Amino acid sequence: MQTSWRVTQFRESVIRDMTRLALQHGAINLSQGFPDFGTEQAIVEAAVTAMREGLNQYTVTWGYPPLREKLAEMYTARLGWPVHPNQHVTVTCGVTEGIVIAMMAVLNAGDEVIIFEPAHDNFRPAAFMAGATPVSVPLTPPNYRITPEQLATAVTPKTRALLLNTPHNPTGRVFDAAELEAITAIVLKHDLVLITDEIYDRILYDGRSHLSPGSLPALRDRTITLGGLGKTFAITGWRLGYAIAPDELARALRPLHDFTSICAPTPLQAGAAAALNLPAEFYEASTAAYHQRRALMMEILEANGFQATPPQGAYYVMADYSHLAIPQAQLPPMAFAHWLTKEVGVAVVPGDSFYSLPGYGQGMVRFAFPKKYETLMEVATRLRQKLTV
Ligand SMILES: Cc1ncc(COP(=O)(O)O)c(C=O)c1O
Repeated sequence: MQTSWRVTQFRESVIRDMTRLALQHGAINLSQGFPDFGTEQAIVEAAVTAMREGLNQYTVTWGYPPLREKLAEMYTARLGWPVHPNQHVTVTCGVTEGIVIAMMAVLNAGDEVIIFEPAHDNFRPAAFMAGATPVSVPLTPPNYRITPEQLATAVTPKTRALLLNTPHNPTGRVFDAAELEAITAIVLKHDLVLITDEIYDRILYDGRSHLSPGSLPALRDRTITLGGLGKTFAITGWRLGYAIAPDELARALRPLHDFTSICAPTPLQAGAAAALNLPAEFYEASTAAYHQRRALMMEILEANGFQATPPQGAYYVMADYSHLAIPQAQLPPMAFAHWLTKEVGVAVVPGDSFYSLPGYGQGMVRFAFPKKYETLMEVATRLRQKLTV
């Protein structure tokens, strides 16, 4: 059977593979990034009520109007330009769809898009789906900083776009003003479109605040801002995200969304509108809880001999296992992750799977910690039993 070129360019997600392995072996799943704690009842009730009241058919392709109105209000304040619900907001089936349609909207076959690695694993496949070529810029531990020199060497006459994820999965970096300046310079110099993945915009530590790159005046006209509800509100299975883009880019995105999925699930969009109307206390409580989870995760890693830098945002930590005093410390990341899942009962993601570039991510695995206190305590017990000598 003849299949397409694009499906030869990538395989199924390693992260979701690790989830299947975790289920098979009864391991605690710290591989895939989703919470094991409950969802705010007001959000669930709003979706259930919507279904009971008959909101069960397609909504307008761009999204349920009250949700678009809320997003337009939020992003007008955040981006500093008048975001209109009927023109600039498109509700997608997760940020995953947003990334695919953004790439398809701006890239032609043979074009190049710059992606920083380590990277969330759908960026490269999305580029290939658009017929384009992803060009990787490696970020390296412990600081994972973006430098202007590295960026400059990645640009070619074929470069059309740059994708930036901040706060960043898997490193936990929140890119700072100097790094955003370097990105702005390269985007303007080479007339690129900036696609931002800001799915972790509400999970920040140590008093940091989120800056949407699309709010920088120089970038306003050329940025597609992607956001999502799954992580912030513990509803990853609802598959809800959105794209905010100025006129021309929004007009390019919308038909792609229309013919990919028609619309995101209508009653769940009603739940999402309720989520975005939660009071400030929700975010305060969520931030406090994530600080506790991060502290516990770091404590567990340190107690067991891993080396890791606390994340500045998001809910992952890249940990170096190569100095552990066990023979498995010499294993490559995939073998180590499999051993940890099957023999220790804690599933993680191999560090090198976040890089397409050879040689990077060695001796590293990613732990996801959006978990209940009891879950993390059980992780502590399991690691202590097998890792400490
Ligand atoms: C950086 C990043 N982007 C996108 C996604 C996927 O988002 P969604 O579940 O909304 O499709 C994830 C999920 O882990 C992610 O980490």
